[in-house]
Amino acid sequence: MSGIISPSILSADYTNLERDVKLVEAAGAEYLHIDVMDGQFVPAISYGPNWVKQLRPETDLVLDVHLMVQNPERFVDAFADAGSDIIGVHVEATPHIHRALQMIKQKGVKAEVVINPGTPVSAIESVLHMVDQVLVMTVNPGFGGQKFLPETLEKIEQLKTFKEEKELNFDIEIDGGVNDKTIAAAYEAGANVFVAGSYVYDKVDPAAKIKLLKALTKD
Ligand code: DX5
Ligand code: ZN
Repeated sequence: MSGIISPSILSADYTNLERDVKLVEAAGAEYLHIDVMDGQFVPAISYGPNWVKQLRPETDLVLDVHLMVQNPERFVDAFADAGSDIIGVHVEATPHIHRALQMIKQKGVKAEVVINPGTPVSAIESVLHMVDQVLVMTVNPGFGGQKFLPETLEKIEQLKTFKEEKELNFDIEIDGGVNDKTIAAAYEAGANVFVAGSYVYDKVDPAAKIKLLKALTKD
């Protein structure tokens, strides 16, 4: 088995979005990562639920929606109704992370909790029993094309140990600076879902890049 690849369409060509989605789907990516930004939790603004709704019928890929928004519970229902398969909420963005995750699960969508590079694993321990996926940010959120932060590897290891000790079943995803040089260390540490934006989309041959990332995360 190899790692699951979740190409981030933040780095895709929006004037050729359908082509860029089909391309990664044909190359063997399983997920499509959608970065939702509100101009508050992070400086940039990106897409809303209607955008996800229009994309939904165009692809069979798992829509992996990363909400970089303040008080994400305000938007959970809209993104779930738009056809998201996974919804991720940042623990730093709400005083009610437990409620936000409950809301996602109530909609029948996979629930993900997200931590920034400056947030320790201890901040999410009490909700790990209720999530399907944990996203460890390996850059500070907000922009594609940043450098992978190696100090985040320790948190991936901690999550893996916690998961084994408590016999939990969540996936461990990483996001930011993933490429052919950085993916193996994260895989070794225990990550099994890998977001990749600029590495996949910025230069030539996205399909070959996806295949390489999968080869580098094979048992
Ligand atoms: C960063 C976003 C990422 C971004 C990753 O805030 O959450 O998903 O698209 O881009 P790369 O792979 O270029 O670091
Ligand atoms: Zn993301």
